Amino acid sequence: MNEKDWDGVAITFEEEIFNVPANDRKGLIRSRLERFAGPARTAADLGCGVGRTLSLLAGCFGRVYAVDISSECLAMAEEANSGSKNVRYVHADLSAPRKGYPSVDMVLCINTWLNGDLGIRLGIIDHTCRAVKRGGHLLLVVPALGSALLTTFRRVQWELREGTPAAHVPSVVDGPQEGVEHGIIHIDQVPTKHYLKEELEVLLAERGLRVAEMHKLEYPWSTEFEEPPRWMRAPYPWDWFVVAERVR
Ligand SMILES: C[S@@+](CC[C@H](N)C(=O)[O-])C[C@H]1O[C@@H](n2cnc3c(N)ncnc32)[C@H](O)[C@@H]1O
Repeated sequence: MNEKDWDGVAITFEEEIFNVPANDRKGLIRSRLERFAGPARTAADLGCGVGRTLSLLAGCFGRVYAVDISSECLAMAEEANSGSKNVRYVHADLSAPRKGYPSVDMVLCINTWLNGDLGIRLGIIDHTCRAVKRGGHLLLVVPALGSALLTTFRRVQWELREGTPAAHVPSVVDGPQEGVEHGIIHIDQVPTKHYLKEELEVLLAERGLRVAEMHKLEYPWSTEFEEPPRWMRAPYPWDWFVVAERVR
Protein backbone atom coordinates (compact mmCIF):
# COMPACT_ATOMS: atom_id res chain seq x y z
CA MET A 1 0.00 0.00 0.00
CA ASN A 2 1.24 3.49 -0.80
CA GLU A 3 0.71 6.91 0.81
CA LYS A 4 -2.68 7.44 -0.88
CA ASP A 5 -3.90 3.99 0.19
CA TRP A 6 -3.00 4.67 3.84
CA ASP A 7 -4.61 8.11 3.67
CA GLY A 8 -7.75 6.37 2.41
CA VAL A 9 -7.74 3.98 5.36
CA ALA A 10 -7.36 6.74 8.01
CA ILE A 11 -11.05 7.40 8.56
CA THR A 12 -11.91 3.70 9.03
CA PHE A 13 -8.58 2.78 10.64
CA GLU A 14 -10.07 1.55 13.93
CA GLU A 15 -12.44 -0.88 12.17
CA GLU A 16 -10.02 -2.04 9.48
CA ILE A 17 -6.60 -2.21 11.11
CA PHE A 18 -6.09 -4.78 13.82
CA ASN A 19 -5.28 -3.12 17.14
CA VAL A 20 -2.12 -4.87 18.35
CA PRO A 21 -1.56 -2.93 21.60
CA ALA A 22 -5.19 -3.48 22.67
CA ASN A 23 -4.84 -7.22 22.02
CA ASP A 24 -1.49 -7.60 23.81
CA ARG A 25 -3.17 -9.49 26.64
CA LYS A 26 0.03 -10.24 28.54
CA GLY A 27 1.18 -6.62 28.35
CA LEU A 28 4.47 -7.60 26.69
CA ILE A 29 4.81 -4.40 24.67
CA ARG A 30 4.03 -2.13 27.59
CA SER A 31 6.39 -3.91 29.97
CA ARG A 32 9.35 -3.83 27.55
CA LEU A 33 8.63 -0.24 26.63
CA GLU A 34 8.64 0.77 30.30
CA ARG A 35 11.92 -1.09 30.79
CA PHE A 36 13.69 1.21 28.31
CA ALA A 37 11.90 4.41 29.32
CA GLY A 38 13.18 7.51 31.10
CA PRO A 39 12.56 11.27 31.14
CA ALA A 40 15.92 11.94 29.46
CA ARG A 41 15.30 9.32 26.76
CA THR A 42 13.82 9.66 23.31
CA ALA A 43 11.46 7.34 21.43
CA ALA A 44 9.94 7.07 17.97
CA ASP A 45 6.82 5.27 16.81
CA LEU A 46 7.65 4.46 13.18
CA GLY A 47 4.45 3.93 11.20
CA CYS A 48 2.40 5.29 14.11
CA GLY A 49 -0.93 5.21 12.25
CA VAL A 50 -3.65 6.99 14.20
CA GLY A 51 -1.43 7.07 17.29
CA ARG A 52 -2.66 4.19 19.44
CA THR A 53 0.58 3.98 21.47
CA LEU A 54 1.50 7.66 21.61
CA SER A 55 0.03 8.53 25.00
CA LEU A 56 1.84 5.55 26.54
CA LEU A 57 5.12 6.59 24.89
CA ALA A 58 4.63 10.24 25.81
CA GLY A 59 4.17 9.28 29.46
CA CYS A 60 7.37 7.23 29.52
CA PHE A 61 9.87 9.24 27.41
CA GLY A 62 11.06 12.83 27.39
CA ARG A 63 10.51 13.30 23.66
CA VAL A 64 8.52 11.18 21.21
CA TYR A 65 8.55 11.28 17.41
CA ALA A 66 5.40 10.00 15.71
CA VAL A 67 6.33 9.16 12.12
CA ASP A 68 4.04 8.08 9.31
CA ILE A 69 3.73 8.32 5.55
CA SER A 70 0.04 9.19 5.83
CA SER A 71 -0.73 12.81 6.66
CA GLU A 72 -4.37 11.81 7.26
CA CYS A 73 -3.36 9.25 9.88
CA LEU A 74 -0.94 11.73 11.45
CA ALA A 75 -3.68 14.36 11.71
CA MET A 76 -5.92 11.88 13.53
CA ALA A 77 -3.03 10.83 15.79
CA GLU A 78 -2.35 14.47 16.68
CA GLU A 79 -6.00 15.15 17.44
CA ALA A 80 -6.32 12.02 19.60
CA ASN A 81 -3.17 12.88 21.56
CA SER A 82 -3.48 16.64 21.86
CA GLY A 83 -2.82 16.39 25.61
CA SER A 84 0.66 14.95 25.07
CA LYS A 85 2.85 17.99 24.50
CA ASN A 86 6.14 16.10 24.07
CA VAL A 87 5.11 14.39 20.82
CA ARG A 88 6.40 15.70 17.49
CA TYR A 89 4.52 14.58 14.37
CA VAL A 90 6.63 13.85 11.31
CA HIS A 91 5.32 13.16 7.83
CA ALA A 92 7.99 10.91 6.33
CA ASP A 93 8.48 7.90 4.11
CA LEU A 94 10.48 5.27 6.00
CA SER A 95 11.64 3.70 2.73
CA ALA A 96 13.67 6.89 2.12
CA PRO A 97 16.61 8.20 4.20
CA ARG A 98 15.70 9.69 7.57
CA LYS A 99 14.49 13.27 7.47
CA GLY A 100 12.71 15.28 10.16
CA TYR A 101 13.40 12.99 13.10
CA PRO A 102 16.64 11.93 14.84
CA SER A 103 17.91 8.50 15.84
CA VAL A 104 16.43 7.67 19.25
CA ASP A 105 16.90 5.46 22.31
CA MET A 106 13.86 3.33 21.56
CA VAL A 107 12.00 2.66 18.34
CA LEU A 108 8.55 1.11 18.42
CA CYS A 109 7.42 -0.28 15.08
CA ILE A 110 4.13 -2.18 14.96
CA ASN A 111 3.09 -3.78 11.68
CA THR A 112 4.85 -1.27 9.47
CA TRP A 113 7.14 -3.75 7.64
CA LEU A 114 4.25 -5.04 5.56
CA ASN A 115 4.93 -3.73 2.07
CA GLY A 116 4.86 -6.46 -0.60
CA ASP A 117 7.45 -4.68 -2.76
CA LEU A 118 10.93 -5.92 -1.87
CA GLY A 119 12.75 -2.64 -2.64
CA ILE A 120 10.33 -0.51 -0.62
CA ARG A 121 10.30 -3.02 2.22
CA LEU A 122 14.10 -3.22 2.46
CA GLY A 123 14.23 0.58 2.60
CA ILE A 124 11.72 0.58 5.48
CA ILE A 125 13.67 -2.12 7.32
CA ASP A 126 17.01 -0.31 6.84
CA HIS A 127 15.72 3.06 8.01
CA THR A 128 13.85 1.57 10.97
CA CYS A 129 17.07 -0.07 12.17
CA ARG A 130 19.15 3.04 11.55
CA ALA A 131 16.74 5.10 13.64
CA VAL A 132 17.89 3.19 16.74
CA LYS A 133 20.91 4.74 18.49
CA ARG A 134 23.81 2.44 19.34
CA GLY A 135 22.92 0.83 22.69
CA GLY A 136 19.26 1.65 22.06
CA HIS A 137 16.40 -0.78 21.47
CA LEU A 138 13.91 -1.73 18.81
CA LEU A 139 10.49 -3.10 19.76
CA LEU A 140 9.13 -4.67 16.59
CA VAL A 141 5.84 -6.38 15.78
CA VAL A 142 5.37 -8.13 12.42
CA PRO A 143 2.93 -10.69 11.02
CA ALA A 144 4.08 -14.31 11.37
CA LEU A 145 4.15 -16.54 8.28
CA GLY A 146 3.59 -19.64 10.44
CA SER A 147 0.46 -18.06 11.88
CA ALA A 148 -0.99 -17.44 8.40
CA LEU A 149 -0.35 -21.08 7.46
CA LEU A 150 -1.81 -22.30 10.75
CA THR A 151 -4.95 -20.27 10.00
CA THR A 152 -5.28 -22.01 6.62
CA PHE A 153 -4.83 -25.39 8.34
CA ARG A 154 -7.58 -24.48 10.83
CA ARG A 155 -9.91 -23.44 8.00
CA VAL A 156 -9.40 -26.80 6.29
CA GLN A 157 -9.80 -28.66 9.60
CA TRP A 158 -13.08 -26.83 10.22
CA GLU A 159 -14.41 -27.71 6.74
CA LEU A 160 -13.53 -31.40 7.24
CA ARG A 161 -15.19 -31.48 10.66
CA GLU A 162 -18.32 -29.95 9.12
CA GLY A 163 -18.42 -32.87 6.69
CA THR A 164 -16.96 -31.31 3.52
CA PRO A 165 -15.21 -34.11 1.60
CA ALA A 166 -11.45 -33.50 1.27
CA ALA A 167 -11.78 -33.21 -2.51
CA HIS A 168 -14.21 -30.28 -2.09
CA VAL A 169 -12.29 -28.27 0.49
CA PRO A 170 -11.36 -25.01 -1.28
CA SER A 171 -7.61 -24.97 -1.93
CA VAL A 172 -7.42 -21.21 -2.47
CA VAL A 173 -8.70 -18.56 -0.08
CA ASP A 174 -8.81 -14.82 -0.82
CA GLY A 175 -7.58 -15.22 -4.42
CA PRO A 176 -4.32 -16.66 -5.73
CA GLN A 177 -1.46 -16.49 -3.22
CA GLU A 178 1.37 -15.47 -5.53
CA GLY A 179 4.60 -14.86 -3.66
CA VAL A 180 3.86 -17.05 -0.66
CA GLU A 181 7.38 -18.49 -1.01
CA HIS A 182 8.58 -14.96 -0.10
CA GLY A 183 6.21 -14.73 2.83
CA ILE A 184 3.72 -12.60 0.88
CA ILE A 185 0.13 -13.41 1.89
CA HIS A 186 -2.77 -11.57 0.26
CA ILE A 187 -5.07 -10.10 2.88
CA ASP A 188 -8.21 -8.58 1.33
CA GLN A 189 -6.27 -8.64 -1.96
CA VAL A 190 -3.40 -6.63 -0.44
CA PRO A 191 0.00 -8.39 -0.70
CA THR A 192 1.25 -8.36 2.88
CA LYS A 193 4.68 -9.49 4.02
CA HIS A 194 4.76 -12.14 6.78
CA TYR A 195 7.97 -13.24 8.53
CA LEU A 196 9.78 -16.30 9.84
CA LYS A 197 11.52 -16.11 13.22
CA GLU A 198 14.83 -17.07 11.58
CA GLU A 199 14.38 -14.46 8.84
CA LEU A 200 13.94 -11.73 11.46
CA GLU A 201 17.09 -12.84 13.27
CA VAL A 202 19.08 -12.59 10.02
CA LEU A 203 17.55 -9.29 8.88
CA LEU A 204 18.26 -7.65 12.24
CA ALA A 205 21.76 -9.10 12.67
CA GLU A 206 22.73 -7.82 9.21
CA ARG A 207 21.77 -4.33 10.38
CA GLY A 208 23.67 -4.38 13.68
CA LEU A 209 20.80 -5.43 15.95
CA ARG A 210 21.06 -8.32 18.39
CA VAL A 211 17.79 -10.08 19.15
CA ALA A 212 17.36 -10.12 22.93
CA GLU A 213 13.84 -11.60 23.00
CA MET A 214 11.36 -12.96 20.52
CA HIS A 215 7.81 -13.75 21.63
CA LYS A 216 4.55 -14.80 20.08
CA LEU A 217 1.88 -12.14 20.66
CA GLU A 218 -1.06 -14.54 20.69
CA TYR A 219 -4.61 -13.62 19.78
CA PRO A 220 -7.94 -15.46 20.03
CA TRP A 221 -9.26 -17.27 16.94
CA SER A 222 -12.05 -14.69 16.74
CA THR A 223 -9.42 -12.35 15.24
CA GLU A 224 -9.21 -14.68 12.21
CA PHE A 225 -12.72 -16.15 11.93
CA GLU A 226 -16.22 -14.90 12.59
CA GLU A 227 -17.64 -17.15 15.28
CA PRO A 228 -14.90 -19.78 15.46
CA PRO A 229 -16.08 -23.14 16.83
CA ARG A 230 -15.53 -23.90 20.53
CA TRP A 231 -13.09 -26.73 19.79
CA MET A 232 -10.71 -24.30 18.07
CA ARG A 233 -8.27 -23.46 20.84
CA ALA A 234 -4.46 -23.49 21.20
CA PRO A 235 -2.25 -23.15 19.28
CA TYR A 236 -3.52 -19.63 18.62
CA PRO A 237 -2.67 -17.19 15.80
CA TRP A 238 0.14 -14.78 16.56
CA ASP A 239 2.38 -11.90 15.49
CA TRP A 240 6.09 -11.90 16.24
CA PHE A 241 7.19 -9.44 18.90
CA VAL A 242 10.94 -8.79 18.89
CA VAL A 243 13.09 -6.88 21.34
CA ALA A 244 16.47 -6.10 19.77
CA GLU A 245 19.46 -4.01 20.84
CA ARG A 246 21.60 -2.00 18.46
CA VAL A 247 25.12 -3.29 19.11
CA ARG A 248 27.01 -1.71 16.21
C1 LIG B 1 -0.89 -1.56 9.80
S1 LIG B 1 -0.67 0.12 10.12
C2 LIG B 1 -0.07 0.08 11.79
C3 LIG B 1 -0.21 1.39 12.49
C4 LIG B 1 0.21 1.43 13.95
N1 LIG B 1 1.60 1.05 14.11
C5 LIG B 1 -0.70 0.57 14.78
O1 LIG B 1 -0.26 -0.49 15.26
O2 LIG B 1 -1.87 0.96 14.97
C6 LIG B 1 0.80 0.54 9.20
C7 LIG B 1 1.18 1.98 9.30
O3 LIG B 1 2.46 2.15 8.65
C8 LIG B 1 2.43 3.31 7.85
N2 LIG B 1 3.40 3.14 6.77
C9 LIG B 1 3.37 2.23 5.78
N3 LIG B 1 4.40 2.41 4.94
C10 LIG B 1 5.11 3.46 5.41
C11 LIG B 1 6.29 4.13 4.99
N4 LIG B 1 6.94 3.77 3.86
N5 LIG B 1 6.73 5.17 5.72
C12 LIG B 1 6.07 5.57 6.84
N6 LIG B 1 4.95 4.98 7.29
C13 LIG B 1 4.48 3.92 6.60
C14 LIG B 1 1.00 3.39 7.36
O4 LIG B 1 0.66 4.70 6.95
C15 LIG B 1 0.21 2.92 8.58
O5 LIG B 1 -0.14 3.98 9.41
